[in-house]
Amino acid sequence: MEILAFGVQADERPLIEKAFAAHHDVRCLDVFLNEDTAPIAAGYEIISTSVNASLNNRVLQTLAAGGTQMIAQRSTGFNNIDLQVAERLGLTVARVSYYSPYSVAEFAWTLATAVNRRIVRASNRTRDFDFRLDGLMGRDLRGRTAGVLGTGKIGEAFTRIAHGFGMNLLGWDVAENPECVALGMKYVGKEQLFAESDLISLHVPLLSATHHLIDASALRAMKDDAILVNSSRGGLIDTDALVSELRAGRFTGVGLDVYEAEAGLFFLDKSLEAVEDDTLARLVTFPNVVVTSHQAYYTVDAVNQIVDATVRNVLDYQAGRRSENVLVPAAPRS
Ligand SMILES: NC(=O)c1ccc[n+]([C@@H]2O[C@H](COP(=O)([O-])OP(=O)(O)OC[C@H]3O[C@@H](n4cnc5c(N)ncnc54)[C@H](O)[C@@H]3O)[C@@H](O)[C@H]2O)c1
Repeated sequence: MEILAFGVQADERPLIEKAFAAHHDVRCLDVFLNEDTAPIAAGYEIISTSVNASLNNRVLQTLAAGGTQMIAQRSTGFNNIDLQVAERLGLTVARVSYYSPYSVAEFAWTLATAVNRRIVRASNRTRDFDFRLDGLMGRDLRGRTAGVLGTGKIGEAFTRIAHGFGMNLLGWDVAENPECVALGMKYVGKEQLFAESDLISLHVPLLSATHHLIDASALRAMKDDAILVNSSRGGLIDTDALVSELRAGRFTGVGLDVYEAEAGLFFLDKSLEAVEDDTLARLVTFPNVVVTSHQAYYTVDAVNQIVDATVRNVLDYQAGRRSENVLVPAAPRS
């Protein structure tokens, strides 16, 4: 059987082809699954999708009408999939519930230290042989406070690194993580976390309860010189409100690996097109902001784990096995 994989990056492709080789043929496409590309899936029982696929009602209807029965999503987050519609249409959906949380946590830290120590500006200057230090002053993190929103797998890995930096640890989550408590984390209300943290990092999933968790009032509650990092999902932050605060000269630094309107932009080369997104265009002009294109997970270790889990998800589906990765189980066959 041939599997159709959407949204495959160039250096991800050999890993996917190798992982599937013993079991299935795989056709890799660089285009993302959306309303325009969904018809390509006609005749494919099993497809694999990536983080910026749009699995909305119309796309799922097109897939079901074309004979697709199983969707193997190559990410942890599944906010891009309408699971209720998938279930109604009898489509099985699986995701990758675990892969290296260190990939994302280490990248969140990369953003935090990059904005704190002005690494991008410094590098741009030395390329111009401008060796002045004006405007490049950062802050020691030791003894300052890290606030972690969401202390699951990635939040815990982030917390371990914060502990290594010698930071005080504040956490906010619906459930306390004993590993974080053992590192000295104090769980507090989010208002207290915003008010007391020097570095705030987001690691909760995007749900209706967490959409715009960081809104105008949350941003105003943060210290003027805080560092804010989002490596989870763009929809956690009201980006227009963030731009307003940045215009007012607030924040030591903001590192964003995700952006609420990233679909249709991130992972693509838009360098020769007119910029249509005024919010993103403004965001990247601030000297204290670094934006990356949803690359926190992108290590060889994490991608190999994602691909291996995707192959297992496909084999489990074919064997009628259930696993913790299944979001919508196969409808009983009559
Ligand atoms: N940028 C990237 O490349 C990338 C890669 C992987 C994951 N992510 C994002 O990181 C997120 C976290 O991943 P993880 O593996 O740590 O997940 P996880 O499930 O291990 O942890 C999520 C934590 O959020 C908490 N939580 C859930 N709903 C909450 C709510 N309403 N209020 C407060 N806390 C809540 C949970 O209790 C849990 O501790 C994912 O959902 C995904 O959006 C981003």
